Amino acid sequence: MAFIFVAGLSILLMLCSQPADAQEGFISIDCGEIGSQYTDARGITWVPDSDYIYSGMVENVSTGLGGSDSSNSRSLQTLRYFSSDDQKHCYTVGPVNVSMRYLMRASFLYENYDGADTFPSFQISLGTSPWATVNIINASAVYVEELVAVATDTSFLVCLYKGSTGNPFISSLELRPLAAGMYSVPYLGQFFLRKTARINFSALSADAVRFPDDHVDRIWTSDLVYPLQDEAPGTHKINTTPSVDVTITDHPSMSVMQTAVVGGSSGLSYRLNLEGYPAPCYAVIYFAEIEVLRPNQTRAFFFQANIKDSTFDGAVLNLARDAGPFKAFEPGYINVTFPAVVTIQLLEDKSSTLPPLINALEIYQIMPNVAGTFEDDVTALSTLIHQLPPSEVPGDPCLPEPWAFLTKLSSRNLTGSIPSDIGRMTRLVDLWLDNNQLTGNIPDLSQLSSLRTLQQPVNMFYLAVPADVSGGVVALGGALLALLLWMKLRKKKKKAPREPSRLPFHEQPSLTTSDILAGDVNPLGDGGRVFRLEELVEATDNFNKQIGSGGFGPVYYGRLADGEEIAVKVMSASSTQGGREFYNEVEKLLMFRDFHCCICG
Ligand SMILES: *[C@@H]1O[C@H](CO)[C@@H](O)[C@H](O)[C@H]1NC(C)=O
Ligand SMILES: *[C@@H]1O[C@H](CO)[C@@H](O)[C@H](O)[C@H]1NC(C)=O
Ligand SMILES: *[C@@H]1O[C@H](CO)[C@@H](O)[C@H](O)[C@H]1NC(C)=O
Ligand SMILES: *[C@@H]1O[C@H](CO)[C@@H](O)[C@H](O)[C@H]1NC(C)=O
Ligand SMILES: *[C@@H]1O[C@H](CO)[C@@H](O)[C@H](O)[C@H]1NC(C)=O
Ligand SMILES: *[C@@H]1O[C@H](CO)[C@@H](O)[C@H](O)[C@H]1NC(C)=O
Ligand SMILES: *[C@@H]1O[C@H](CO)[C@@H](O)[C@H](O)[C@H]1NC(C)=O
Repeated sequence: MAFIFVAGLSILLMLCSQPADAQEGFISIDCGEIGSQYTDARGITWVPDSDYIYSGMVENVSTGLGGSDSSNSRSLQTLRYFSSDDQKHCYTVGPVNVSMRYLMRASFLYENYDGADTFPSFQISLGTSPWATVNIINASAVYVEELVAVATDTSFLVCLYKGSTGNPFISSLELRPLAAGMYSVPYLGQFFLRKTARINFSALSADAVRFPDDHVDRIWTSDLVYPLQDEAPGTHKINTTPSVDVTITDHPSMSVMQTAVVGGSSGLSYRLNLEGYPAPCYAVIYFAEIEVLRPNQTRAFFFQANIKDSTFDGAVLNLARDAGPFKAFEPGYINVTFPAVVTIQLLEDKSSTLPPLINALEIYQIMPNVAGTFEDDVTALSTLIHQLPPSEVPGDPCLPEPWAFLTKLSSRNLTGSIPSDIGRMTRLVDLWLDNNQLTGNIPDLSQLSSLRTLQQPVNMFYLAVPADVSGGVVALGGALLALLLWMKLRKKKKKAPREPSRLPFHEQPSLTTSDILAGDVNPLGDGGRVFRLEELVEATDNFNKQIGSGGFGPVYYGRLADGEEIAVKVMSASSTQGGREFYNEVEKLLMFRDFHCCICG
């Protein structure tokens, strides 16, 4: 007997102590905190953010008590901010378990910490996927963005970028593993869910409730705070103390289900303004019969909304009968398009003696997960920057914003050979590699259809030779009418920037091969030089040493009379089509001095 009693007691103790341990997998990052980790009044353990991000500066806010949720205040007293250039700054949040679902929450409290009164506006993303625009319009309000996503890697990235006013900043970042089954919609992975609304109806105070009341720490906003409109007359609030069975798919917090709003004779009617809508969304309403009904009482109602979806048309809900008393029930849509203003009505059925009720509501916008940059491109860039500190480069090199240093590969003391993978970086628009010690062959860039700007490394020479006849080197060697262009892309003789008014090569009127050969016109301005074929034959020892192959033909090593090393690219494609491609490539090279940026397409 005594043994059983002790065993029973210890099970009880284990159950009681569970909330304290239930933080398993929680990652709570206090951005800008420079001290050590601490535990707040709710038992959440917060850690400084220095292990999760390597850029930005930290600052304190003056009051740190924004919003009504004072239990959160310490994590909001510091923040990390970033320069308002067009670069992105990413937190690496993990470790997480691949294919598990998580709730991610980012909080922002401005409090005019910079004294600039700027009301910052900037973007945040989940990895490569745009998540939200953070638009501060009340300096002392806490702005919260939340999402539900499935982990596709061992960590999540949360990036801040594109400050349009003020500096991007962040106060806290929280990650919560979701229990099995929660928000398990088939499209998660290709999509994620951005929280639009999560409302606790009949809240007695404006305080938001969360962990430990909600075991996965969702914040349920009080309906006293949420801007609901059109509440029908005659509504009243009810609450109960007996427990409500909440073991349904999305596992709402029990305290949410223990309160409800009950309608008047005209039922319940709510109008919600949904920012960013119309949009496809995941939407559920939580109901539970939390009144003890007498035998002659029935609560039966039906649902109406201004949406084009007939799932619930004509369906009469009788909670005590369909779900059972004190048991949560969550009808909803996994993919429905809501308008910018959604009107939800719950109307009493004629079989009913009691008006409808509502306990809680959740709406999430379905957001696409944007595919990252192609693996080849990433490999090429990683090869190129292998000597840069990896701490600078979390995330996708291009999306949703390019790595900051992609604008700065110039003068980075890069050494080694230029990776030929660059020739496969199909999203690359601008490339700026000068003032480094890169060596080796020029990669074939003919596949880079979006390349707009190219600055090649010092000591690299680009030489393009279109032949008017096809058939390669031998034929070319005999074709005296070949147009020979030589371009020297050297920084050491740095000249003034080119006149921007110069016409694109192919738009220059009356440009003929014979004009060029006669030396009357130099289509390349001071960026290039025209050669006669004989000079190239001599320089390359009759096209003796092939060092690569380009899109139009082979590339040969050469040495000019003054000792300068060159590469000679031979265009062997047929003259019409190859000619256009050749001009395009020459143009890309000609533009190199006019740009100083690097943008991924
Ligand atoms: C992730 O997986 C590991 C190993 O299976 C497990 O121990 C851990 O509890 C999991 N994490 C979460 C948050 O479920
Ligand atoms: C923020 O406040 C803490 C405690 O008062 C102080 O130690 C720290 O230096 C402050 N940080 C900044 C950036 O002002
Ligand atoms: C700004 O937010 C604070 C905190 O939520 C609130 O008390 C205040 O009324 C808000 N101010 C305006 C102008 O909305
Ligand atoms: C919902 O509101 C009620 C009444 O204020 C409160 O007791 C309960 O804790 C709230 N629950 C949540 C999860 O917000
Ligand atoms: C239901 O029964 C109760 C007594 O149990 C009675 O007082 C009440 O009037 C009845 N209500 C209706 C609508 O019949
Ligand atoms: C949602 O439904 C729309 C309309 O039927 C469809 O086009 C879209 O692909 C669906 N989205 C998801 C994530 O299933
Ligand atoms: C490159 O090397 C030079 C000389 O060692 C050094 O002064 C400069 O700071 C380096 N630049 C970078 C970006 O590391």
